[in-house]
Amino acid sequence: MSSELGAAVAVVVSHVVKSYRIYQRPQDRLLQALFRGKKRFFEEFYAVKNIDFQIRRGEVVGILGRNGSGKSTLLQMIAGTLEPTSGSVVANGRLAALLELGAGFSPDFSGMDNARLSASILGLSEPEIEQKLPEILAFADIGDHIFQPVKTYSSGMYVRLAFAVAACVDPDILIIDEALAVGDVKFQTKCFRRFEELVASGKTIIFVTHSVEQVVRHCTRALLIDGGCLIDDGVPREIANRYLDMMVGAAPPIKHASSPQQSGGSLLSAIETRAGYCSGEYRWGEGRARILDATLIREGEDSHCIQFDTRDRVQIQFAVEFDAPSERPIFGVFVKTPDGVTVYGNSSRNLCPPSEGRRVAAGDVVSVTFSCLLNLGCGSYVLSLGVSEDSFGEIVPLDRRYDVMQFEVVNFSGAVGLSDLDASCRVVLM
Ligand SMILES: Nc1ncnc2c1ncn2[C@@H]1O[C@H](COP(=O)(O)OP(=O)(O)O)[C@@H](O)[C@H]1O
Ligand SMILES: [Mg+2]
Repeated sequence: MSSELGAAVAVVVSHVVKSYRIYQRPQDRLLQALFRGKKRFFEEFYAVKNIDFQIRRGEVVGILGRNGSGKSTLLQMIAGTLEPTSGSVVANGRLAALLELGAGFSPDFSGMDNARLSASILGLSEPEIEQKLPEILAFADIGDHIFQPVKTYSSGMYVRLAFAVAACVDPDILIIDEALAVGDVKFQTKCFRRFEELVASGKTIIFVTHSVEQVVRHCTRALLIDGGCLIDDGVPREIANRYLDMMVGAAPPIKHASSPQQSGGSLLSAIETRAGYCSGEYRWGEGRARILDATLIREGEDSHCIQFDTRDRVQIQFAVEFDAPSERPIFGVFVKTPDGVTVYGNSSRNLCPPSEGRRVAAGDVVSVTFSCLLNLGCGSYVLSLGVSEDSFGEIVPLDRRYDVMQFEVVNFSGAVGLSDLDASCRVVLM
């Protein structure tokens, strides 16, 4: 079958549909069998509705979508463990899949036996398995547990072993369904490093995650699934923003405010007129409060500035106007690299004494100042600002302005990297 596909194509999903018959009552199933299709006793439920796309070799595709949108169903059909109701999936090459937890391993067998079994199902010969086993065991890093039955494993151990098998058997296409949410950060880092190695050798990766950051950071492309349909397909950053938008419900577009009246400090203009303002900012939230203006001020100076030196002390100030009273407003800042890696984020909830900033009335304008030490490496950074509300323990975003302003940091020490660790060095002759 692969000969029909160009060598550059890894997966072709053509008009794939998956529907289930839903019987309201158990007896309906029996009635349906008796009536042999002359009458219908079920409702048709479409978990996946006519999805169509191609994935090229070397792509890292992130799939986003809310719970129940059909992501796992789609991955199972790509992996070949679930038959589409109609349409077809063609995969070009050896495929290894790490599907939802619980699938795959035999609970009574040891981790070692399961690893061998999975590798053989994935098409490895006995000598190949023997050759790959040390790598698999090292990657999983679960010690003597490897000799215990898999049913005694924690979910973390299970995933480590399953990922190790899938990633070490040299698959052409690796499919992962949310498994990376289970491992700890160190293991995740190892997995993503493995992704990079696989992609560098022309392999293809498809993974479902809830982490927008993982998608922005590790994917070359993202798909957004909703209600069983592919509703968007494109650049990770844009798809991630659309997903966030969807998750907070259709946020009403917030009208940009006219210039605020006197709002304290130097916050006298609109953020859109500031140097460094990014017109591609992503703005969302429920409304009821608006971030009007923001400035960056080097300590000891008084004007807006977007060029700093490493270890400058900088004030990030912004003004927020409330249209409705709020009991517990929370103000936050995020600093990211242009490709979406969070360098720092924090909020007034962590940084302010509990007495401060409690309760605002409709019409109030609040000035918020974060004072930071820019221990950053040389490069460009983007600032995100937010105001939310703590509503009985739930954080409700009111106005979030992501990637709203860009600033530069120059580091004359010659250091490279995101952060300046202010190292010193001594070399002595022994
Ligand atoms: N075997 C099944 N029978 C009936 N409905 C199913 C079955 N499997 C999944 N579904 C339904 O299909 C929809 C999509 O499920 P799923 O693909 O698991 O979503 P996601 O992975 O995006 O959370 C859900 O509404 C789910 O309840
Ligand atoms: Mg799922």
